[in-house]
Amino acid sequence: MKILITGGAGFIGSNLAEKLSSQAEIFIVDDLSMGKKENLRNVDNVVFYEESVLNKDFMKRLLNRENFDYIFHLAAVASVADSVKRPQETHEVNFMSTLIILEILRKMSNRNLKKFVFSSSAAVYGDDKILPKKENSNIQPLSPYAIDKFASEKYVLTYNNLYDIPTTAVRFFNVFGPNQNPTSPYSGVISIILDKFKKNLNGEMTKFSLFGDGKQTRDFIYIDDVINALWIVAISDSTFGKTFNVGTGNETSINDILIIISKFLKMELNIERMEERDGDIRNSVADINELEKLGFVCSYTIETGLKNYLMKLK
Ligand code: UD1
Repeated sequence: MKILITGGAGFIGSNLAEKLSSQAEIFIVDDLSMGKKENLRNVDNVVFYEESVLNKDFMKRLLNRENFDYIFHLAAVASVADSVKRPQETHEVNFMSTLIILEILRKMSNRNLKKFVFSSSAAVYGDDKILPKKENSNIQPLSPYAIDKFASEKYVLTYNNLYDIPTTAVRFFNVFGPNQNPTSPYSGVISIILDKFKKNLNGEMTKFSLFGDGKQTRDFIYIDDVINALWIVAISDSTFGKTFNVGTGNETSINDILIIISKFLKMELNIERMEERDGDIRNSVADINELEKLGFVCSYTIETGLKNYLMKLK
């Protein structure tokens, strides 16, 4: 079995590659603009291309030569804030690359492809106040990132209806776990918090900048659960042309995250209180009924996920 993971050196892609490498031949296309090769240190059986997904000729040759069984399209400018600063570049990567791959697939005469899985985001829901967010809730993309994710999603699903290309899309909520780069200002809040704790443990006095009152909530899902969800959605026969939330169904505030980690590490973090971040969503939580109908069971709570993550950091 051959599997292509675009963005395979990034946070989610590298964890997916690690999980699938025992059962398949893994091919990764990543230009290392955000990902890191060292994220793949535990992955055997991988063919790595340092290449952009926007290189049409390269992608065409690769897809035609390898005729993949599964494609996970994870390459993206992975940050809402980054997309606000660089809308045009974001559009190229987050939208055009999807269309390039879909067009190559459409024109292939003999496809082995069983599923093309597109990674979308809970950002497409914007700040809709009705919770939990269901796949058919209001869509209010508020940033270039969210607009491109939603447009890509629509293309991906429409290619299933129009051209019979086996596609599906997932909307990630707040994913956390190993390999999320904490040094990027656009990184997820949990990796930033853990990085600050680590620095403090090493005697470096740093402060965590908390935007707003800390009562804002998110649906934090541990990476291992996300990888399981991705594989379930990929192999299921009832996901063609459909979108699935990938979350836990539980809400946790940033204040609670700080309390849980302080308890584990027996240490308080210095907090610098800042103005609420522009465009920040107040509350977010997923309805995961559709995913559960496919057989998904969430294995980690926020506590066990954080514990596992901390153990891997040591
Ligand atoms: C996240 C995702 C985004 C996704 C969106 C879907 C990340 C990095 N971003 O954005 O890709 O599309 O969910 O809804 O995973 N915070 C602080 N201090 C910090 C950093 C963050 O207080 O140093 C706060 C933020 O203001 C926010 C919360 O923590 O209220 C979560 O922030 P973040 O991890 O960046 O995630 P989202 O904004 O939810």
